[in-house]
Amino acid sequence: MKGIILAGGSGSRLSPSTNSINKHLLAVYDKPMIYYPLSVLMLGGMKEIMIISTPYDRPRFEELLGDGSAFGISLTYKEQSEPNGIPEAFIIAEDFIGNDDVTLILGDNIFYGQGFTTLLRKAIKNHHYATVFGYRVKDPERFGVVEFDHLKKVISLEEKPEEPKSDFAVTGLYIYDNRCIDFARKLSFSKRGELEITDLNKEYLKRSQLDVQLLGRGFAWMDAGTHESLFDAAEFVKNIQQRQGFKLACLEEISYYMGYIDKETLFKKGKSMEKNDYGKYLLEIADRKHTQQYWEAIDRNPMLGLVENE
Ligand code: DAU
Repeated sequence: MKGIILAGGSGSRLSPSTNSINKHLLAVYDKPMIYYPLSVLMLGGMKEIMIISTPYDRPRFEELLGDGSAFGISLTYKEQSEPNGIPEAFIIAEDFIGNDDVTLILGDNIFYGQGFTTLLRKAIKNHHYATVFGYRVKDPERFGVVEFDHLKKVISLEEKPEEPKSDFAVTGLYIYDNRCIDFARKLSFSKRGELEITDLNKEYLKRSQLDVQLLGRGFAWMDAGTHESLFDAAEFVKNIQQRQGFKLACLEEISYYMGYIDKETLFKKGKSMEKNDYGKYLLEIADRKHTQQYWEAIDRNPMLGLVENE
C-alpha cells in the first residue's frame, strides 16, 4: 500500500495568511498542518509516501521533512502545476503507485479518536476496491455527501450539494485499488473546473464496490481549510495535549513506537530541540521509565504504545 498526501491547491480561502506560504505548512497549534495527515498514513502502516504540492511550495516541504529517513520512512515529492482536482493526484503519482493499492489523504485533514489506528489498519487490511470514511457534520453542503438507505447501504454521492440528502460528509481519506489511476484518467472536469474525487467514488459506487465506513461521535475529524476551522483545530489540539500530556501527530514518537527509529535517535532529535516543548516531549519519551514488563511487551509488539487491544 502506497500513501499520498495532497498538499497543493491555491489556499485562497486562507488569504492573506497563505499569500507567501502553503496552507499545509501553517501551524496547527504547535506543528505544521502536514504533520497530521502524515501521522495518519504512518499509523496506517505506510512507509512509502509521496507528497504532492505546487512547484513553488515543493522545496519548502522537502526542507521540512527531507527524505523521511528521520522518521524511518521514505518520502518522495511531486508537483501539481494547477489545482485541477483531487483525483489528479493518481495521474501524477502513477509511477510511484506502480501496481500497488493506494491511500490518499488531503493535507488539511485532521483525524483523532480512540481506536482510529486500529480502525484504519483494519480498513486497509480488509479493503478490496474502495473504502472511504463518513462523518456526521452540521454543514454537509461544504463537503462530498453520502446518502444511505435504511440498511445503511450507500445509495448516492454528491459533491457540495445545495440540498444535502444526509448529514454525512465523506472525509479526505481514501483507500483505493490500483484502478483509481484509470478511473481518474477517464474523469471529466466538473462545472467548477476540477476533477472531482466524488466522481471517482461514483465509479466505484456504480460497480457496488464502494465501502463507506462511518466514524462515530467519539472521533474528531476536522479540515483546517478556513480561518474558523484552522483556529478550531488548533484549539482542539491544544486542549487535548495540555490535558493529557500526549502530543497528537508527533512523527518521531510514532516512528519510535513503530520501531522505525531507536531510542538514541529519538534522544538526539530531542536534544537538538531541547529549548522548545516539542524537543522536551521527545526527550521525555526517550526517558520514559516503564516497568520491565512494559518494555518486554513493547519489544514483542512495538505498536503497543499506539494501538489499542483489538
Ligand atoms: O475535506 C474533505 C472534502 O475535501 C471532501 O468531503 C470533498 O468531497 C472533497 O472535494 C474536498 O472538498 P474541499 O472543498 O475541502 O476541497 P479543497 O479544494 O479545499 O481541497 C482539499 C485539499 O486538497 C486542500 O488541502 C488542497 C488540496 N488540493 C485540492 C485540489 C482541488 C490540492 O492539492 N490540489 C487540488 O487540485
